[in-house]
Amino acid sequence: MKSDKIVLSGMRPTGKLHLGNFHGALKNWVALQDKYNCYFFVADLHSLTTAYDHTENLAANSEAMLIDGLTAGLDPQKCTIFIQSDVPQVSELNTLLGMITPLGWLLRNPTYKEQIQELLKQKYAGQLDEKSLGEKLSSIAGDEDISSFGFLGYPVLMATDILIQQAAYVPVGKDQTAHLEIARDLARRFAEVYGEQVFTEPEPLYTNVARVPGIDGRKMSKSYHNTITLGEDIDSVRKKVMAMFTDPNKKKANDPANPEGCVVFAFHQIYNPNAAKRCEECKAGAIGCVACKKELFALMEPELKAFSERRKTFENDKAQLDKIVAEGRERAAANAAKTLAAVKKTMRLVK
Ligand code: TRP
Repeated sequence: MKSDKIVLSGMRPTGKLHLGNFHGALKNWVALQDKYNCYFFVADLHSLTTAYDHTENLAANSEAMLIDGLTAGLDPQKCTIFIQSDVPQVSELNTLLGMITPLGWLLRNPTYKEQIQELLKQKYAGQLDEKSLGEKLSSIAGDEDISSFGFLGYPVLMATDILIQQAAYVPVGKDQTAHLEIARDLARRFAEVYGEQVFTEPEPLYTNVARVPGIDGRKMSKSYHNTITLGEDIDSVRKKVMAMFTDPNKKKANDPANPEGCVVFAFHQIYNPNAAKRCEECKAGAIGCVACKKELFALMEPELKAFSERRKTFENDKAQLDKIVAEGRERAAANAAKTLAAVKKTMRLVK
C-alpha cells in the first residue's frame, strides 16, 4: 500500500544527466514513487540564483531533465512531475516566506558561504591567490555581482518548494542538510509568528548512494568530460567501458592488482552481485582487465539499452511530453494553491 505522505525533491537543470546522477538520486526517486505520494520537479528558478546571466539553454535544459527523469523510470501515472517556474504559487509563497526569514539565518548558512567561495574561484580563476580570495569572501556584502538577493534567498525558495507541497520527506544529498534545516525552522517560525501550524515539518531522507566515478577515475562530472549519460548510445558506452581507468600497476592479464581506485571495480560494485568475488580474483591476478571490462559491459547493457529506447520514445513524441508537463503543472499547482490559501488567511492578507 502506498503511503499518503508526501515526498518532494528537485534538481537544477544542468543539461543531460549521467549515471552519477542516476545512481546518486534518480534511482531512489524511482523507487519512492511506489511508496509515497511523490512530487519531483525541475528546479529552473534555482538555476537563476547563480546562472542568471546564462539563460540561453535554460528551457532546453529543463526539457532535457524531464526526459532524463522519464528515461530513468519516473512514471507520471505514479508521481507528479513538474517544472518549478510553471507553478506561480511557488513565487508567491517565496515572497511571503521572505518576509519572515531573518537575514542572519541566510548569512550564516554554510552552504551559502561555500558556494560564494566556489563562484568567486570560478570568476577569478588564475587571477587571485587563496589569501585574496579569502579577503574577497569576507567582503561579499559589497557589490560583487555574484551574490544577488536571489542567491542569498536560495534556501527560502527551497523551503518554499518543500512547504508549499506539504512534504513530509525530502530525499536529498548530505550537502543539502543546512538548507533543509532552514525549511524546518521556517515552518516553525511561521507557526510562532502567526499562531497557526500551517506547514508540515519536513524531514530529510538520506540514502546510501553508491560512489560513481567518471571513466577516468575522478568524480563523474560533465565538466570533466568523463561521464556516461543516461540513454547514451550503447556502442559509445561500450567504448567508454573498455577505456575505463584501472590499476596502472597491472601490466599483464595475470598480474595481481589492487581494485581500490579501479573504475571498473567501482562499477562492478553497482552492477555485479558477485563483486566481492571479483575483488578477490583481481587481487589474485585471476582475471585480466579486458575480460573484467567485457563482463561489466554485459551486466550494464540491458538497463542501458532500455534507457536509450525509453529516451527515444520521449524525444520523438513532443505531444506526449507536453501533456506530461501540463498534467504535472496542474497537479502541483492545485496542491500548492491549497497551502497558499491557508497561508494568506493565517497571515490575514485575506479575511
Ligand atoms: N537545492 C537542491 C540541489 O541543488 C535542488 C532543490 C531545489 C531541491 N529545491 C528543492 C531539493 C526542494 C529538494 C527539495 O540539489
